[in-house]
Amino acid sequence: MTTSGLTRTRAGLVGAAMLIGTLVPAQAASATEWPRTIENTLTAMHGEAMAHASYHFYGEQAGYEHLPQVRVLFAKTGETELHDHFTQEARLIHFVRDDPANLRESIKGEVEEATRTYPRFAEEAREDKDYNAARLFTELAGDERTHARNFTEALMAITRHRGEIPEGPTVEPVRVVAGKPKVRSPRTLRNLETALRGESFANARYTVYGEHARVRYPKLARLFERTAAVELTEHFAELANLAGYVHRTRENLRKSIAGETYEATTMYPGFARTAREEHAFRAAALFTEIAGDEAAHARAFKRALHGLDHDHDHATRNDT
Ligand SMILES: [Fe+2]
Ligand SMILES: [Fe+2]
Ligand SMILES: [Fe+2]
Ligand SMILES: [Fe+2]
Repeated sequence: MTTSGLTRTRAGLVGAAMLIGTLVPAQAASATEWPRTIENTLTAMHGEAMAHASYHFYGEQAGYEHLPQVRVLFAKTGETELHDHFTQEARLIHFVRDDPANLRESIKGEVEEATRTYPRFAEEAREDKDYNAARLFTELAGDERTHARNFTEALMAITRHRGEIPEGPTVEPVRVVAGKPKVRSPRTLRNLETALRGESFANARYTVYGEHARVRYPKLARLFERTAAVELTEHFAELANLAGYVHRTRENLRKSIAGETYEATTMYPGFARTAREEHAFRAAALFTEIAGDEAAHARAFKRALHGLDHDHDHATRNDT
């Protein structure tokens, strides 16, 4: 599909619009100085989080197909999306604050998912007779409730010295199997896609929060890391299985090339232009630099696809 980049970005816009409302006074100055750039940065961060999560599972799929080079390419590219692009964009808008503020933001997100988003998705899936999805949404609501409780306990421990920072959940990664969607209604599929974006963003958010907490509160860093792992390797994975999100490697490469090309040629250059208009020159420079990286990602994925198409051994193995 050639629309993956667009889908990713449209999704980002929704997320960004929701997040804008949650920006705290500390960011208010820059939000008034360059409002469109702040919103664009959040949109970009949603795209980066989704790219990171997608490449994690595309890499695993390449591994199952005995394509070690493609597996490594996806893994490395995914690392860049999270530890370079997402992280630099987060820094630009002071997305990461002090540990109590990060915990409060996390609790807010988890409570929203546990009490509103997932229960609504479950209800709609039941109405549409997508009972497998209804079961999963309900299960995820329960997990998010536990995450909210853990973060609340951690907040009490570090701000009021009451109790201990919890260990956090045990991570039990779920294997994603390439295939078609396992739901019948378009509404359920849309909700699954929204949930995938939410989980990828939670994973990225807790990763940067965990890095921030490491020096002062190693135990809090572990709680964030473990929760981040659950969001990706359990929640995202289970949703991906129902949504038919992961395909065979050729198709995953094609989708990735479309997404990277859109970011390199349309999204980031547009964001850089807006940033210059708002005199947010550091942001403009960052967006331009990242656009260059995305173009390189697109080229690397194209080379990998070309390699598969022209390597008889791989092609044979890939099609069995
Ligand atoms: Fe990126
Ligand atoms: Fe969660
Ligand atoms: Fe989750
Ligand atoms: Fe990229």
